[in-house]
Amino acid sequence: MTANTGHSVALSFEDGVTRFISVTPGQTVADASYRARINIPLDCRDGACGTCKAFCESGSYDGGDYIEEALTEDEADAGYCLPCQMTPESDLVLRISGTAEMAKSGVGRFTATIEQLHWYADNTAGLTLSVEDREQLAYLPGQYMNVLVPGTDQQRSYSFSSGPDAEQLTFLIRTAPDGAMTTYLKERAAVGDTLVLEGPKGSFFLREVKRPVLMLAGGTGIAPQLAMLEKIAQAAAGGAVPAHPIHLAYGATWDKDLIEVEALERYAAAIPGFTFSTIVADAESQHPRKGYVTQHLLPEHLNDGDVDVYLCGPPAMVDAVRRYFAGEGIEPANFYYERFAVGAVPAPALAGAGAA
Ligand SMILES: Cc1cc2nc3c(=O)[nH]c(=O)nc-3n(C[C@H](O)[C@H](O)[C@H](O)COP(=O)(O)OP(=O)(O)OC[C@H]3O[C@@H](n4cnc5c(N)ncnc54)[C@H](O)[C@@H]3O)c2cc1C
Ligand code: FES
Repeated sequence: MTANTGHSVALSFEDGVTRFISVTPGQTVADASYRARINIPLDCRDGACGTCKAFCESGSYDGGDYIEEALTEDEADAGYCLPCQMTPESDLVLRISGTAEMAKSGVGRFTATIEQLHWYADNTAGLTLSVEDREQLAYLPGQYMNVLVPGTDQQRSYSFSSGPDAEQLTFLIRTAPDGAMTTYLKERAAVGDTLVLEGPKGSFFLREVKRPVLMLAGGTGIAPQLAMLEKIAQAAAGGAVPAHPIHLAYGATWDKDLIEVEALERYAAAIPGFTFSTIVADAESQHPRKGYVTQHLLPEHLNDGDVDVYLCGPPAMVDAVRRYFAGEGIEPANFYYERFAVGAVPAPALAGAGAA
């Protein structure tokens, strides 16, 4: 949004739900939330109690007037802010204390049509959807939707691989033996089918690039990283080139699991400072880099820990990478991860990403 029409503010709640509000010039975030019927925590509304304290993940703002008891100088320097006082100077992402349910704000429910079902290999599908009310579905690159599996009462989570401005939504789906979504995709799905989606959800999303970034993806864990790269490429095309290098290490079990490599090549050409490498675990593979992603990280990718890590893939990979960092004594400045747990939609308290 422009300065004339106001700014978009993403309110990211502790249960992984994100709601977007539009804040007009001069309006406080709290007033705009109230008008949008989202009850973020508030008490004095006067910058005196600190009840509304939130954390700004990205963007700039005027903090407004408040007293030290509500927000200390150190907290303000660290990025904490008071929505009852602050007025945005750009689009913002705010981490709000409390859950969306508490704020009486649910996730959105959308109806979509399958435009394309593409099989990269027998175990990986690409799904392209057109969504009714597309303009109502605002999401952050890295977030996911819950998809109701047609003909069942089951939901499965899928991360957008399309950037937030894409007209049609894309998802990359790895099959699982006898899985509910797998069976639907392999046996019943057809172009023109209607799907019901809920979301967006998750706190695994791209933050401002303030230091070198290391992206680690396993299998279809490449999906949210593609959405993030699309956003970064768009910004770069508009002149906002990332100020720090970004490296992606993308691992797969088999050669056939490495997908969308042409898209990564396009991003490498479009984003100054972006590099990537692919790694295949299969011992029989002829791929030039074999093994696990952690075996192919260079000191400059880890930057002595002054790095923001975005890690996404199957639970075993996510856990292995976390153990690797702990074992190497590396504590990244920020560590965001998403585990593609199979079998069920995560419980609300566990939904979305971890940040360590
Ligand atoms: C936040 C999030 C985002 C995700 N994003 C993606 C994504 O972008 N791409 C992607 O490919 N995946 C993603 N996933 C995983 C995805 O949601 C599905 O779990 C996956 O696609 C498998 O779904 P399915 O219905 O085919 O299999 P499921 O029905 O979930 O079955 C998975 C496997 O578990 C077995 N199983 C199921 N239930 C049981 C049980 N009770 N006991 C024992 N075994 C059981 C099945 O036989 C099968 O082998 C994500 C997961 C999460 C949590
Ligand atoms: S509500 Fe009291 S400081 Fe914001």
